[in-house]
Amino acid sequence: MRRVLGLSAIALLPALPAAAQGQLNLYCAATIEWCTPIARGFERETGIRVTLNQKSTGEMLAQLRAEARNPRGDVWWGGTGDPHVAAGEEGLTLPYESPRIAELHDWAQAQWRQTEGRTVGVYASVLGFGFNTELIARRNLPAPRCWADLVNPIYRGEIQMANPNSSGTAYIVIATLVQMMGEEPAFDYLKRLHGSINAYPRSGTAPITAVARGETALSISFVHNAAEEAAAGFPVGHAVPCEGTGYEIGSMSIIRGARNLANAQRFYHWALSAEAQITASSEAKKLQTMANRRVPLTDGAPNMATARIIDYDNARFGASAERRRLLARWDREVGALPR
Ligand code: F6P
Repeated sequence: MRRVLGLSAIALLPALPAAAQGQLNLYCAATIEWCTPIARGFERETGIRVTLNQKSTGEMLAQLRAEARNPRGDVWWGGTGDPHVAAGEEGLTLPYESPRIAELHDWAQAQWRQTEGRTVGVYASVLGFGFNTELIARRNLPAPRCWADLVNPIYRGEIQMANPNSSGTAYIVIATLVQMMGEEPAFDYLKRLHGSINAYPRSGTAPITAVARGETALSISFVHNAAEEAAAGFPVGHAVPCEGTGYEIGSMSIIRGARNLANAQRFYHWALSAEAQITASSEAKKLQTMANRRVPLTDGAPNMATARIIDYDNARFGASAERRRLLARWDREVGALPR
């Protein structure tokens, strides 16, 4: 869902401190439920008015490219790491060092070092499957456990995955399979999988929402999103693929040409704090692993440490040329096929 909100205009928000401290244009590529408490928490803490622009990660990268000569955003928070890496390489974002870098998990620091300070990890999530437990029981379908299971013809028309051009989640599906299988077998797999896909929505969370509502039996999703639907009372189960899987480093970058640069730096520093991460993630009911090591894992959150995850190559799959090449190949060889 695409939304642009002037957050401080929303009546639900608490009143700002008497002297408003200026403005911040926050570009956010997580869901609106996740972006809103982040924006609101920063407003509460600083009195800085936050204008929020929310989109999927691939769409946000496209917006940054389109605005390169006349940047409108100050800081880009959230969304999968690869498009943040690409933006850094294209000179659309700025290096920055917060004293809080040392407080972060290794994967969050590695993202920052590998991009020479242009992007930093703010949360992480494991890729897997979600399924509607009532629907699969009614249709007599087994719960999927492995990547290999998904191409079983019994799931024909039962699976949703997002469109990798707009969704960072779905691009991670391609990158994960290429890393696990090799490129040719991965594309053969994606072509076979295509026959079982009933829709490729724009946003990475749309497929798990469809699972929760009983509109589709299965989705390829981050497992924390499935766990969140289950915690909200929907009949949703999840699995981490038995062969192993990829993961995202949800990231944050300061936009080159930011008109409110000092406020962007202040936001960056605040967003890396344990306090901000604990408050915003609990308000949003998020079950991700947060980047600050002092943030405990919430009950019910999938534990990355016990999942069988690959050593995801953020440099290769975040590189602009590689991302464009893989997306063009997917469009040509998979997306264009009849179902
Ligand atoms: O906010 C939920 C989330 O799944 C994040 O973990 C992730 O970074 C983002 O959505 C990706 O969204 P999309 O696939 O639409 O780019």
